[in-house]
Amino acid sequence: MSHIVVVIGTRPEAIKMAPVVRELRRQPWAQCTVLLSGQHRALLDQTLDTFGIVADQDLDLMAPDQSLGALTGKAFLGFDKAFREWRPDLVLAQGDTTTAMVAAMSCFYQNIAFAHVEAGLRTGDIRNPFPEELNRIVAGLVAQLHFAPTQKAAAALAQQGVAPGNIFLTGNTVIDNLAHHAAQLSHAANLDQKRLILLTSHRRENFGEPMRSALLAVRDVVEAHPDVRVLYPVHPNPNVERVAHEVLGAHPRVTLTGPLDYFAFIATLSSAHVVVTDSGGVQEEAPFFSKPVLVLRDATERPEAVEAGVAELVGLNREHVRTRLGALLDDPQFYARMARPCSPYGDGLASKRIAERIGIYLGHARIALIPPFGA
Ligand code: UD1
Ligand code: UDP
Repeated sequence: MSHIVVVIGTRPEAIKMAPVVRELRRQPWAQCTVLLSGQHRALLDQTLDTFGIVADQDLDLMAPDQSLGALTGKAFLGFDKAFREWRPDLVLAQGDTTTAMVAAMSCFYQNIAFAHVEAGLRTGDIRNPFPEELNRIVAGLVAQLHFAPTQKAAAALAQQGVAPGNIFLTGNTVIDNLAHHAAQLSHAANLDQKRLILLTSHRRENFGEPMRSALLAVRDVVEAHPDVRVLYPVHPNPNVERVAHEVLGAHPRVTLTGPLDYFAFIATLSSAHVVVTDSGGVQEEAPFFSKPVLVLRDATERPEAVEAGVAELVGLNREHVRTRLGALLDDPQFYARMARPCSPYGDGLASKRIAERIGIYLGHARIALIPPFGA
């Protein structure tokens, strides 16, 4: 029996690790413990409830609007203590959050094997996304197993000097959830027959004027299109809430809500006309449902959908966002080109591949039965 600790801190980590926890708990050789950093609170608890994940320990790190330094310091103390007590055989973390980066470094300090889910995503710009690009590089420097979601991510790791034998092309676990649950989604009736724009935003590098200017562009477009409405589940970061309510709060065809439960969110995504977002996970989910995505960022570490022509990087400039969103609503040919079925991020088997590879690494199996994603 091997003891594996799965670390989770934020909403997207809970969503992307839920199928991995489910798969590890099916393995007769694995004792899987879930350790929460609690970097998020309401968002995390809502998501864990949705997936029925009960944590074994919770470091409860969130404080309102806390600085990255304060969060990082507290996280180091919490992970250090938990890993010292448990001495797991392997720690698994996902993505690019402060939680994932600190868990990785804490494993390095204590000489514990670390495996990285969603490894190898890069923009090549250390400040964009901030601070996630650095977090992901750090996690990649200390990991023994790198679970790359796409060929590009695997290539980026190889280019950085990671031995090819330690890189596994798995697909993204976010697609496992969709493959597993998409058939059960319940859809609200579209009573007013209006075209729905689903909007999300929360990136730190966009706080202040850039976010304000992108939201103003959405308001301009809604005002110019009476047959369009917007649903915006607002991230609870105070830097987002302030500007969201100031710019869009009063418009009769814009609905601001709190964060939606995951299943409500993906049901809404699957019935939306267009998605406008700066979220990483939402960029991966929208193409699965053939929904065009306009990405409110200047660079993305998920270029596959952009290259396939089903997503477009529109930045945050008011005039540019207004023009591109307006074009998508007004030009049926442009819309049809972007609303094609396309799922470059996974095939629903990522978590199975991850569990299989961990089993081999820890000496419980000899060969992988599932071919790599895309093979
Ligand atoms: C974090 C991740 C980011 C990820 C995002 C997903 C880092 C540095 N950033 O960003 O990569 O894309 O999560 O959402 O790890 N808050 C609440 N309740 C919650 C969650 C957050 O009130 O449930 C508020 C708090 O005031 C908190 C603030 O939001 O201090 C910021 O949260 P934080 O985790 O630092 O950053 P995010 O912007 O959420
Ligand atoms: N999501 C959700 N409810 C919402 C908005 C998003 O469950 O109201 C889910 C969404 O399906 C995706 C994930 O949250 O899987 C994305 O999280 P977020 O945008 O906070 O972080 P990122 O992916 O940018 O790191």
